[in-house]
This record gives sequence, structure tokens and C-alpha cells, in this order.
Amino acid sequence: MAKKRRWWPAALLALFVVLGNLPDEGIARAVSNVHDLSSELYAEIRELLTMRRAMHQRGEPCGPELNAAPAPAHPRVVPSWPLHGPPPLGQVAGVAVALNGFPVVFHRGARVFDNNSFNRTNHFLLVEEGPIPEDTVLTLDPDNGDVLTGWGRDLFFMPHSITIDNRGNTWLTDVALHQVFKFAPGAIKPNLTLGQRFSPGSSKHQFCMPTDVAVATTGEIFVADGYCNSRVLKYDPAGVLLRMYPEEEDMVEPALRLIPPLSRDSLRMQVPHSLALLERLDMICIADRENLRVIWPPPGGDPLPRPGDYIYAVNGYTASDIKVTGFTLDPASESVIDKWGPPQGMSNPHSVAVSPDGSALYVAEIGPNRVWKFDLPQAA
Ligand SMILES: *[C@@H]1O[C@H](CO)[C@@H](O)[C@H](O)[C@H]1NC(C)=O
Ligand SMILES: *[C@@H]1O[C@H](CO)[C@@H](O)[C@H](O)[C@H]1NC(C)=O
Ligand SMILES: *[C@@H]1O[C@H](CO)[C@@H](O)[C@H](O)[C@H]1NC(C)=O
Repeated sequence: MAKKRRWWPAALLALFVVLGNLPDEGIARAVSNVHDLSSELYAEIRELLTMRRAMHQRGEPCGPELNAAPAPAHPRVVPSWPLHGPPPLGQVAGVAVALNGFPVVFHRGARVFDNNSFNRTNHFLLVEEGPIPEDTVLTLDPDNGDVLTGWGRDLFFMPHSITIDNRGNTWLTDVALHQVFKFAPGAIKPNLTLGQRFSPGSSKHQFCMPTDVAVATTGEIFVADGYCNSRVLKYDPAGVLLRMYPEEEDMVEPALRLIPPLSRDSLRMQVPHSLALLERLDMICIADRENLRVIWPPPGGDPLPRPGDYIYAVNGYTASDIKVTGFTLDPASESVIDKWGPPQGMSNPHSVAVSPDGSALYVAEIGPNRVWKFDLPQAA
């Protein structure tokens, strides 16, 4: 059933692809990152969707609503943000937006991710340097970009992603610790820890450089176990493993299978780098970084993409002739419907987030380390 897809040479195409998400008055709006969205890439996504459609003939497609969908806002960079010059940030691995609309970054302080950070078995090599002594989680002023408050010193070794769920919990991934942490609002000790400290692995209880977390309104947790295992795991709100993509036959009771298993052939990811949920559609979007694509196997059924849900995306640097920019994707038509970015361009964006009211979009970059703010003007 699954057609063999063609693979791009990973060495040529190492890039950062990122997703973030947030619900917007019942409409889940997803944010993602993809490389240049070539027709080839879209051919692959179409193939995946075609496959899944064939698997669940439902005959209830996007149909007439299609043309009635409101256009997504075109992100417009806020030129004088941050107003007082760039705040002192290390590599800005992640950005999220709190429920009150304040952007929150997860940065690496003076620590730098480079060739010497990990060995060939993905163990972090700088354990003796200790945790990053600076506050790694910083809340910024949405109006002027000033750092307002911070926490998260002496806890993290190599920050990667930040997600704020609809209850205000903060979820952080650390690729050196190989762990995922949930912090309740205002807490500085984790409420939930997944993975084993400094212990990379592919067992049920381990991650290997986990890249991102998405949390459903039900509290269910999705973890992208990105750099080495290339899998996505789903947990109940208490952190009990429910299933993983691709399915591992011996892993999950058949009764817990929410959809027919996607075999490794049909969904072979290479570095699932970011996640976003389109809950209205019961879809999870996965930024499949080294495959240069966003894929969306539905987590609990097979609804077809409906108009009105969009994905904001940015690609990372791959080659000098491929522009690093922002994209707006329409899952219903599987096409790029807009491109955006600051006039001076972006270099190495790593994370994207939209505010809960849908009025602002933030992009975090690593080298130069900075955060961009974009307005998302609502249609009149
Ligand atoms: C990492 O290694 C590559 C290839 O060996 C080299 O080109 C690059 O400059 C190195 N980067 C750092 C930060 O050491
Ligand atoms: C990587 O480092 C870990 C921890 O120091 C060590 O156990 C492992 O053998 C190392 N792997 C390689 C390939 O050197
Ligand atoms: C985490 O939060 C939940 C819900 O508030 C609570 O029931 C649980 O006891 C907390 N666990 C820890 C370890 O703090």
C-alpha cells in the first residue's frame, strides 16, 4: 500500500525544521518550519495523504466549504522590536507564547551546540561543565521585547524546545539530558519528567535527544524523539505511554491502536524536529526535518484536512541558493499559499510560535541569536 518514497541525501539537506502550535477559539492553528517547499516535497505529502484516504474511504471531503475559508493573516514584521536592542540571549532554541500573550524563550546562555557537544553514541560530553548557570526560560515584553522575568538556571544542559499548554504548563526538552519536563505555572521543580537523565536510548523509557512536545486540550502528550530515534510518542496526561509512530509491533496493545499502524516503510521519518496539533482535524503535524517535509498522520481517525486551518512555517539554512524564509501552508490544498519574512532576511530560524489570540507570531533564531515579532493582522 505504501509506495516507496525517494530520500534526499541527508548530508546535503541538514536543516532546522520547527513547529509550534496553539488553539485559537476552537480553531487550532499550527506553526511549522519546513525547508523550501518544492513540488517534490508536496508530491510526497500528497502521496501520504492519498494513501491514507485510500485506507479510510469516507467520502466526506473538503468539498464546497473550500472556497469559503478565510485567508490566513500575512505575518508583518514589527520593525522596532525589540525596541531597546537585542536582549542578551544565547542560542534561542525555542519560543512559545504564554496564555497572556507574552513570548517566552528557552535559550542556552553561554552554552553552544557544536561538533563537540555529543559523541557518536549521542552522549553529552560536557556533563562536568554543569548545568547552564543563567536563567534559561525568559519571559519577554510583547510590546518592546525587554526581558521581564526569568527562571531555569542550574537545571538544563542543552535546551531545545519550549511548549506552553492550554493550562499554562511549560514543557521543555533538553537534548543533553535526553529528557522532557513539565513545569506547572510558577513552579521551578518539574511536575513530570520523561526519559532518563544523560541516558540516550530507544527503549520505552528513554529518549535520544528529544526535540519537541505538543499537548492536546485533553492533556495527552506528544513527544518528538527526534535526532536519533526518529519517532513520535504519545502519552496520557499522567505520562503513561499510549503509542508511538511509527508503530512498534510489540509496543502497544492492539486495543490501544488508534489508527491502523503506519509501518516504518510508510512513515519513515528522519529527525522529527517539531510537532503541532490541529485538534479540530484530529491531526498531528510533524516537521520531518531531514526529509524536508511536514507530515500529518491523524492521531485518532482519518479526517481530511478542512479549510481554515493553516500552518505557519520557516525553513532553515540548507544552501546559499535556497532562501531562508517563512511560509504559510494550507493542509486542505496541500500547497504553499504565502511567503513572509523580515526585509533583511533570516539566517537560522529554529522555532516558531503564535500568540493564543492569533495576533502575533514569533520566530527564534540561533546565530544570530534573536527573536522576531510579526503582527498577524486579522481580516476586517
Ligand atoms: C564541525 O565539523 C565540520 C566538519 O568536520 C566542520 O566543517 C565545522 O567547521 C565544525 N564546526 C564546529 C563548530 O566545530
Ligand atoms: C560516549 O560517551 C559515553 C559517556 O561518556 C560513553 O559511555 C560512550 O562509550 C561514548 N561513546 C563513544 C562512541 O565514544
Ligand atoms: C503534577 O500535577 C498534577 C495535577 O496538578 C498533580 O496531581 C500531581 O500530583 C503533580 N505531580 C508532581 C510530581 O508534582
